[in-house]
Amino acid sequence: MGGIEFRNVSVRYPAAPNDGWVVKNLSLSLAKGEFVSLIGPSGCGKSTLLKLAAGMQAPTLGSLSIDGRPITGPGPERGVVFQEYGVFPWLSVRQNIEFGLTLRANRRAPAERAAIVDKYLELMGLADFRDALPGTLSGGMRQRVALARAYAVAPDYLLMDEPFAALDAQTRLVMHDLLLELQGRERKGVLLITHSVDEALYLSSKIVLISARPARLLEVVEVPFAHPRDETLRADPRFARLHAHLRQRVMQAYAEQQHQDNPHALPPENP
Ligand SMILES: Nc1ncnc2c1ncn2[C@@H]1O[C@H](COP(=O)(O)OP(=O)(O)OP(=O)(O)O)[C@@H](O)[C@H]1O
Ligand SMILES: [Mg+2]
Repeated sequence: MGGIEFRNVSVRYPAAPNDGWVVKNLSLSLAKGEFVSLIGPSGCGKSTLLKLAAGMQAPTLGSLSIDGRPITGPGPERGVVFQEYGVFPWLSVRQNIEFGLTLRANRRAPAERAAIVDKYLELMGLADFRDALPGTLSGGMRQRVALARAYAVAPDYLLMDEPFAALDAQTRLVMHDLLLELQGRERKGVLLITHSVDEALYLSSKIVLISARPARLLEVVEVPFAHPRDETLRADPRFARLHAHLRQRVMQAYAEQQHQDNPHALPPENP
C-alpha cells in the first residue's frame, strides 16, 4: 500500500521531563499524494515525528513503514526541508539544487542534471541567482533554494519542518502559492509541520492536531477545499469556520503545554 504509516509509535528520550516519553502510542497515515499538516504546541514532539518519517531516528516502540516497507533510514523517495538547515552556505544556488543529484541514490548524467537544475531555477524564480551564495540571498529565496533542492531529486514524499516560519508574512503567502503550484504540477505526499492554522488550512488536504507532550492525536480534520486554490479561499465562510474551530483547539493544547513547561507563565501567543 502506498503511503507513510506510523503504527503505535512511542518515543522516549531518557533525559526529557515526565519520564522521557515525548510521543505516546501515535498512529497516523499519509497516503501518496495527500497533504497533511501537523499542528501542535512547541516542544510537543512534532519534529521528532518528522525525523522518524525521515528515517533519521527510530521509535522506542511501534513501527513506521513507507509504501509497505519498514523505514530503517533515509531514502531517495523522501525529501526533507528544515526551517534552518535547508541549504549549504558554501555551495552556490545551482550547486545546492544539484546536490542531491550527485549522491549515489539519485545520481543522474550531467546533461540531465543540468536540465533538472535549470527547470527548478526557472520555476522558483532563481535563474538570475544561480551562482549566488545563500548568504547573499533573502530568507524567502533561501527557502526557495531548499524547496528546489528537495524537488530536484523527484521524491514521492516531502517532509517539511516549519519551512516558512522564519519568513515575513508576505513572503510566506507567496511561498504558499508557489508550493500549491508545484503540487499542481507534481503531486507529492507532503507532511508539513506548522504553527499556523491559516497555512495548514490553505495548503492541506488533512490537518492533524497534536496534543501537549507526550504527542498524541487530538483531532484529524479533513480540509474540504478543491484545487486549484488561491487567495479567495480565505474569504470562504467554511475557511473562517474551520479556522475558528482549529484555533480554539490549538490554543487549548498550547495552554496545556505551557502549563506543563511553566505553570507560572503568561497565556500563550496567538498561533
Ligand atoms: N535528542 C533529544 N534528546 C533529548 N530530548 C529531546 C531530543 N530531541 C527532542 N527532545 C525533547 O523532546 C521534546 C519534543 O521535541 P521536538 O523537537 O520534537 O518538539 P517540537 O514539537 O518540534 O517543538 P517546536 O514546535 O518547538 O519545534 C522536547 O521536550 C525536547 O526537549
Ligand atoms: Mg520542531
